[in-house]
Amino acid sequence: MATPPKTFRIKSFGCQMNVYDGERMAEMLGAEGMRAADDGEDAELVVLNTCHIREKAAEKAYSDVGRLRREDGSRPLIALAGCVAQAEGAEAQRRTSMIDMVVGPQAYHRLPQMVAEAAAGRRVVDTDLPALTKFNALPARRRTGPSAFLTVQEGCDKFCTYCVVPYTRGAEISRPFASIVAEARALVDGGAREITLLGQNVNAWSDGDRCLDALIRALDRLDGLERIRYTTSHPMDMSDALIAAHGEVAKLMPYLHLPVQSGSDRILKAMNRSHDAEGYVRLIERFRAARPDIAISGDFIVGFPGESEADFEATLRIVDAVRYAAAYSFKYSPRPGTPAAAMDDQVSLEVMDERLQRLQARIAEHSQAFNRASVGRSTRILIDRKGRRPGQMIGKSPWLQSVHVEAEAEIGAMLDVTLVSAGPNSLGGVLAHRQAAA
Ligand code: SAH
Ligand code: SF4
Ligand code: F3S
Repeated sequence: MATPPKTFRIKSFGCQMNVYDGERMAEMLGAEGMRAADDGEDAELVVLNTCHIREKAAEKAYSDVGRLRREDGSRPLIALAGCVAQAEGAEAQRRTSMIDMVVGPQAYHRLPQMVAEAAAGRRVVDTDLPALTKFNALPARRRTGPSAFLTVQEGCDKFCTYCVVPYTRGAEISRPFASIVAEARALVDGGAREITLLGQNVNAWSDGDRCLDALIRALDRLDGLERIRYTTSHPMDMSDALIAAHGEVAKLMPYLHLPVQSGSDRILKAMNRSHDAEGYVRLIERFRAARPDIAISGDFIVGFPGESEADFEATLRIVDAVRYAAAYSFKYSPRPGTPAAAMDDQVSLEVMDERLQRLQARIAEHSQAFNRASVGRSTRILIDRKGRRPGQMIGKSPWLQSVHVEAEAEIGAMLDVTLVSAGPNSLGGVLAHRQAAA
């Protein structure tokens, strides 16, 4: 394996930040003269950009590594990246001889150098968590699709008792204002119409006196950018100014992802969430006062240690109180090294399964009601892919719904449509001018 690889494949799992990191790794390897392997082509370097948030993440990563062995016994160069890499560190290379590089989420700017070392037969590990170093070392952005991610904040100091992220992503840090604006400019020049600002606690972003609302207002002035979104927020870091921005900033989309996790104050306390159910609902009401049509989404965990039927019913009540347009729900998964994993009273898998089903059914009722209530609205969609039928395109509404439309349009086009039907997972739209002509 003395010759450096010429082709690579990056597989990203987990959250949008991993998608962003995967894109940046690809750009970096591209800048080194490597190219992405085509579909079906055998890449000479494979990067597994992993997620550690739930279930048997580490075991899954090792079995994914094992499957990279080719029929003739050879294998590509293999880099374990992302949050499992951070959590496992050098242990990964003790577990298997197939991993040449272990690279954590804050160290991937060193990947090209690591690849060179690995190609020369050395095994390398870098799981340092230096603040901001990588962003300064990455090559400039070039081409992108119509909807781009931009990491502005990384890491977490909240230490919810169930969560690994503070350990895998490090402490909360914010990128400087100027470098974010420059990257946004480059993304727009490269084809982005929509930018989603990313952070584990994106609403904690700050640079000097500037907070997230000021960043959003600055991006609102970027010519060529049509839409701004941000995710994920924490109730504790929410500011009046950010709420107000939702009523005032034209390009800021009417959508808020604000995880609550549970509707039971007792469980929220055990989770170390630092908010209660009522405070959360009041916060949502203030967003609705600023922007009445705002779509609210959230995350839930069922079966946190000690969760009783009464606690779970409080979760169903908060779902009804908020009327989520969308929400993600998960069975509690004990993560190695987190306080909750050592708590008494772990809930059985059977009970978790049953609660998850009831919760998802309740969430689905509200999201379908939200979609049905959208029918009749005139709005704009951002086309992001082709539909299954010829002539059909799919785009996103401001409320992040998928909308199917018959139209001759390019990916990246913004179309004026009227929403005419609502299915369980998507809406139907017709072009506004077509309707006017009919
Ligand atoms: N603030 C974060 C949350 C990251 S994890 C962000 O920026 O996205 C995403 C979601 O995974 C959490 O909101 C939580 O609902 C869920 N989650 C985290 N740890 C979990 C665990 N141990 N078991 C089950 N779900 C978990
Ligand atoms: Fe995890 Fe809580 Fe931090 Fe979100 S806020 S990343 S759930 S510790
Ligand atoms: Fe997963 Fe790490 Fe994101 S654990 S959810 S990839 S921050």
